Amino acid sequence: MTTLVTGAAGFIGYHTSRRLLDRDERVIGIDNLNDYYSVELKKSRLQQLQGNRDFAFKQVDFSDFKALKQALEGEKVRKIVHLGAQAGVRYSLTNPFAYAQSNLIGHLNMIEFARHADGFEHIVYASSSSVYGGNTDLPFSVDDRVDNPVSLYAATKKSDELMSQCYSHLYRMPQTGLRFFTVYGPWGRPDMALWLFTEAILAGKPIRVFNHGDMMRDFTYIDDIVTGVVSCLDNAPADDGTRHTKGSDAPHRVYNIGNHRSEKLTHMIEILEDALGQKAEKILEPMQPGDVKETYADISAIQNDLGFQPTTPIEIGIPKFVEWFKKYHNL
Ligand SMILES: NC(=O)c1ccc[n+]([C@@H]2O[C@H](COP(=O)([O-])OP(=O)(O)OC[C@H]3O[C@@H](n4cnc5c(N)ncnc54)[C@H](O)[C@@H]3O)[C@@H](O)[C@H]2O)c1
Repeated sequence: MTTLVTGAAGFIGYHTSRRLLDRDERVIGIDNLNDYYSVELKKSRLQQLQGNRDFAFKQVDFSDFKALKQALEGEKVRKIVHLGAQAGVRYSLTNPFAYAQSNLIGHLNMIEFARHADGFEHIVYASSSSVYGGNTDLPFSVDDRVDNPVSLYAATKKSDELMSQCYSHLYRMPQTGLRFFTVYGPWGRPDMALWLFTEAILAGKPIRVFNHGDMMRDFTYIDDIVTGVVSCLDNAPADDGTRHTKGSDAPHRVYNIGNHRSEKLTHMIEILEDALGQKAEKILEPMQPGDVKETYADISAIQNDLGFQPTTPIEIGIPKFVEWFKKYHNL
C-alpha cells in the first residue's frame, strides 16, 4: 500500500509519514521546502525519514499541477494525506497570495489529482480550528455554522472543505477533512507560541503574550493527532447513502481533532517555565488581528465514529517538547 503524504517535511506530515512507515507501508512524501520557516528544520525532519527504504521524497510544488503530475508519473497512489499548506494565521495578513496559491490552487490540484488516480480510495486533508472564527459557543462543534472567518488563512481552509464537499458529491470520492486544534510536540513549528516562548525563555529574552494572557487553546499533542489522522485514513467514509454532513450523502466528512481540554495560555506558560526551570519575562500585548480568543474542540463525532481518544495532557506533552528542543539545539 502506497500513501502519498503532502507537506512531508512539515511538522504533522513528518510525524504522519513516520507512523505509516512504522506500519511497514510505503510512503511517497512531497514538499516544496519553502522558507516560511527554517528550511534546515524541514531537511532535518526529512533526514529522519530518508533512512527508511520504504520512503521516497519528491521536492515539488503541488500548486503547479503539471509538475505534480510529472513527479508522480507511474506511481499507484490510492490514498493521500494532504497536510501541505501555507499555515499560520498572522502571516496571512501580510502574505495573502501564499495562501491562495498553496491552500486554494494547491488543494484543488490535490483533489483533482485524486479524481484521476486509478483505483483511488481516500484523501484525508488538513483543515483548521480557525474556521470557527469568532464563534463563541463552546466547545466548537462540526455542526456549528462557520461563515465568519477572522483571517484569510481560515477562509482558505473553509474553502478547502467546500471544494472537497463538491468533489465528493460529484465524483463520489471518499474524503475526510480534519480541523486540527493547536498541534504541538517534538519537531514542532518555529512560528508557534510554544516554540517562540521556549526559544525566548532559554535566551533570557521576554515573551510576547497577546490579549494580556486572556486566551485559551485546546493544545493537542502530535502523537494523538497522528493516531487520529491514521485512524481516519484507515476508515474512509462509505458511499452508502449515509449523511456524513448535514444535508448531503456525499462520502465526505469533517471532524474536529483536538485534545478536548481548553487550557489557559497563562497555565501553558507555567508548565513551560517548570519544564525549563526558568521564569518567563512577559510583555503583555493586545489581541492580534486575525487571532481568536479561545478554542475548544467538541470531538464527539470522531470519538463516536472511530474511537478517537487523546491521551496526552500538556503536563506531559510540554516537557516532551522541551526535551526534544534542547536536544535538537544541543543545549
Ligand atoms: N500545527 C497546527 O497546530 C495546525 C493547526 C491547524 C491546522 N493545521 C494544518 O495542518 C497542516 C500541517 O500543518 P503543519 O503544522 O505540519 O505545518 P508545516 O508548515 O510544518 O507543514 C506544511 C508543509 O507544507 C509544505 N508546503 C506548503 N506549501 C506547499 C506547496 N505549494 N507545495 C508543496 N509543499 C508545500 C511546507 O514546505 C511545509 O513543509 C496544514 O495544512 C496546516 O494548515 C496545523
